[in-house]
Amino acid sequence: MTGLDPRVEAMKMAIDMIGVENPHIYYPGCGDDLSFEGLGRITYVDIARYAGNKAIIQANATTYKVEDEVDIVAMFDLGDKGKEKVLTNLTLSAGGLVLWRSYNASVPELTGPSMTFESLTGVFVADKNGTIYENTNLEQFFEFTPLNQISPNILEKLTKYFHERGQDLPSEAAEAWAKVRDTCNFRHVPQYVRGELWRTFAFQPQT
Ligand SMILES: C[S@@+](CC[C@H](N)C(=O)[O-])C[C@H]1O[C@@H](n2cnc3c(N)ncnc32)[C@H](O)[C@@H]1O
Repeated sequence: MTGLDPRVEAMKMAIDMIGVENPHIYYPGCGDDLSFEGLGRITYVDIARYAGNKAIIQANATTYKVEDEVDIVAMFDLGDKGKEKVLTNLTLSAGGLVLWRSYNASVPELTGPSMTFESLTGVFVADKNGTIYENTNLEQFFEFTPLNQISPNILEKLTKYFHERGQDLPSEAAEAWAKVRDTCNFRHVPQYVRGELWRTFAFQPQT
């Protein structure tokens, strides 16, 4: 990584894209994450109680109504369950964006009406050189990788893992990951053809 937080880089690029000064950023499931401080007016909501120096509203984001129009919704590891409910509790400004990222390298479920493949405008992808925004061939981010196409290093570890347990190696990376994710000690198996860890999906629902 460049030393810059990919979350912050993606958020800054998203703000540039919508061209709104001092945007209203809604951050449901913020935890104690302050990464976006200073980038806009932020409404923090978390179901858990966090004692910190910021105004976190303790509420369930699936029912909490956001009063002011929102320019960017930041769903960073909030999970997929109930994300549509979160979005029905707010009004997104015209041209506003919904950003979604999972820390276990998953992809968002494309359930309507706000988060569909059609409303996916692009993906912010970070590697050691920084973050770029990609808006072509977005299908690749949802295509499963055959196991024989993942990196030799990870394949070797996976093979060892399954063989030590007397099990067959699954044929798809997604299947292998589903079986090992709670017990293995290596970081993650890229399940998708575009399997970078730092992928932030940007949706622009029709308003
Ligand atoms: C894995 S943490 C991520 C925290 C933060 N977004 C980050 O990137 O560091 C998930 C957070 O979502 C919160 N959360 C889960 N379900 C929620 C809900 N329905 N409403 C509000 N917060 C929720 C949890 O309390 C937790 O703080």
